[in-house]
Amino acid sequence: MAQLKLKTNIHKLFGELNIPGDKSISHRSVMFGSIAHGKTTVTNFLPGEDCLSTISCFRKLGIKIEETEEELIIHGNGFDGLKEPNEILDVGNSGTTIRLLLGILAGRPFFSTLVGDRSIGKRPMTRVTEPLTKMGAAIDGREHGLYTPISIRGGKLNPIHYKLPVPSAQVKSALILAGLQAEGESVIIEPAAARDHTERMIRMFGGEIHQENGSITVTGGQRLTAAHVPVPGDISSAAFFLVAGAIVPDSEIVLKNVGLNPTRTGIIEVMKKMGAAIELISNQDDTFEPSGDIVIKTSKLTGTVIEGDLIPKLIDEIPIIALLATQAEGQTIIKDAEELKVKETNRIDTVVQELKKLGASIEATEDGMIINGNSQLTGGTVSSHGDHRIGMMLSIAALLCKHDVFLEDAEAISVSYPNFFTHLNSLIQ
Ligand code: S3P
Repeated sequence: MAQLKLKTNIHKLFGELNIPGDKSISHRSVMFGSIAHGKTTVTNFLPGEDCLSTISCFRKLGIKIEETEEELIIHGNGFDGLKEPNEILDVGNSGTTIRLLLGILAGRPFFSTLVGDRSIGKRPMTRVTEPLTKMGAAIDGREHGLYTPISIRGGKLNPIHYKLPVPSAQVKSALILAGLQAEGESVIIEPAAARDHTERMIRMFGGEIHQENGSITVTGGQRLTAAHVPVPGDISSAAFFLVAGAIVPDSEIVLKNVGLNPTRTGIIEVMKKMGAAIELISNQDDTFEPSGDIVIKTSKLTGTVIEGDLIPKLIDEIPIIALLATQAEGQTIIKDAEELKVKETNRIDTVVQELKKLGASIEATEDGMIINGNSQLTGGTVSSHGDHRIGMMLSIAALLCKHDVFLEDAEAISVSYPNFFTHLNSLIQ
């Protein structure tokens, strides 16, 4: 496993970055391109390992996907264009791939087997296999469908009326994708708004879906038509540089083309509340996914409480927000975030354990963490635990460390941000 010596003791970050494509939207562009009729083109597709796993699964399902320098071209032929794979579908590290794919396969009259890496093997799948089974799919897996490997034989589906037990875009999307193949109207109720990229993409591909007061209605049998998908930059990737710019002295960073879908901008809300010098300098909100350019400067921060309906809007940013909180005045409390325990790692444990190694004052709680600010970070050997976001958070933390920092399992970062270190190094003055 690669161990990397990180850059430490940095006194200034300055420059401009073009943020790479959004991971959630890139996955969905391949999926919708595959189930729509015609030639879908995607620009600014994220070539991270997770999204490459999605491409590989859809190729095994018989879809022709071309990758050129400028774009991805997907030749879809409707749901019926998907064919029984003669190989196992390997989703690698990607929870989005497996959960959304199960929703698509639930309505396909053939057999597939899905596997992933060690981390995927520990993540709960009953949250999708149970409602999809209720709709009529035949699914089995290790521990009665809780974990991979999972086998699925899809077929004729009944619509579902389902209240999500957790606010999860992956579960919601799996049920919407199955609902598109069911006979009649499915209704999905969300306890809190999770990212709505699937809903937006259905409309982009000429379909209909209704969202009202936390209730989503979709009718089966719709014909989706190919589209052009310009993927905005990933706010979850931009987050590492938003925090870096705020906590490294004397810094100013411009982040270009950042996705600003309101179901994803919790980090901006929190940083503003903490006093960050963060400014939106251009904003395009007339497109299917809003985006804009952001400037962040070194900031004087104060602690805050992060809880409730805000959590789904920043769930993937909590590791880097924890680092931000170590540099604020006072205490920060993160609550209602139990979902962190079932991400690529148990992110309550990995964040607390690794930041402590660097000298932070941070404690785990049942549903989040408590972070004391004004910490002088020291140094040491830390690990990503194979989790891309933990690896990137620790690389940003190292910038403030006085002593050497070594990162184990650094290669995990390529899951969502293959050129992360090139971008980081370009800013270091
Ligand atoms: C995602 C949804 C979220 C998020 C993940 C991507 C998506 O997961 O954490 O990184 O693309 O739908 P949950 O749906 O499990 O909350």
